Amino acid sequence: MVSTELLRRYPFFANLTDEQLRSIAMITEDRATRDGETLFEGGDSADFLYLLRTGGVELHYRVVDEREMEQPQDLLVGIINPGEVFGISSLINPYHYTASGVVSEPGNVLRLNGAALRELCAVDKALYALLLERVASTAVKRLHDTRVLLVAA
Ligand code: SIN
Repeated sequence: MVSTELLRRYPFFANLTDEQLRSIAMITEDRATRDGETLFEGGDSADFLYLLRTGGVELHYRVVDEREMEQPQDLLVGIINPGEVFGISSLINPYHYTASGVVSEPGNVLRLNGAALRELCAVDKALYALLLERVASTAVKRLHDTRVLLVAA
C-alpha cells in the first residue's frame, strides 16, 4: 500500500476522488528496481500497471525468425520517462503485454495490481473511463515514439 499523497503527485491520478485514490493506494506498492531487471516479458499475462517514479525503463520487442534460421532479435521500441505509466495492457483486453519492460537505470516504480484495478473499474465506470482515456493517450504517444524509432533505424 502507498499513501494517497504519493499518488496525487502524478498527473495520471489527477481528478480522482479521495475514495478512488484510497482504493488505488490499497492495491499499489512502491518498489525499487534493479539495473537490467526485466519487469515483464512480451506475451506475459499483464498482471500489473506501472508508473515510473525514478530511474529508467525501456520497452523491447523480441522478433523471432519463424524458420528459426537466426537468433531472436531484441529491438528497442520505447523509452519510459519518470511520471509515465507503462504496462498499459493490464487495462486492455486480452490483458497480455505486447512488449517487454526492462530497467535501464535503477530507481522506483509504483506497481498497481492489474486484476484488482480491473475489479475497481468494473464497479466504478467513471474511474474506468478516466483511466482508459489516459491509457489511450499513452498508447497513442507510444505509437508515435515507436514510429520515430523505426524511421531513425
Ligand atoms: C504493454 O503494456 O503491452 C507493454 C508496455 C506498454 O506499452 O505500456
